[in-house]
Amino acid sequence: MADLRYTDPATYNIFQNIVREGAYTGLGMPNLGQYLNEAEADSIKQFILSKRAELMK
Ligand code: HEM
Repeated sequence: MADLRYTDPATYNIFQNIVREGAYTGLGMPNLGQYLNEAEADSIKQFILSKRAELMK
């Protein structure tokens, strides 16, 4: 599984689609829509982006 800190920034534009709507199920990424609401997924996204920013320092 990829280290999401290195994920292409454009991919964060479709983060909700990937995590909650199954956009990447064909790649093996499960649809987590029944476990995470939109706000929770967004919190995870912001957390990953903060960790990504730390890498850039
Ligand atoms: C809160 C939990 C998770 C989040 C936020 C998350 C998020 C993501 C994102 C954003 C991508 C796209 C990465 C990219 O294009 O660089 C991705 C890909 C993927 N995820 Fe998840 N994921 C989660 C949990 C899981 C779990 C539990 C599995 C497996 C059981 C999984 C398997 C994969 C796979 C196989 C890919 C595609 C291949 C790859 O990019 O390495 N993910 N995930």
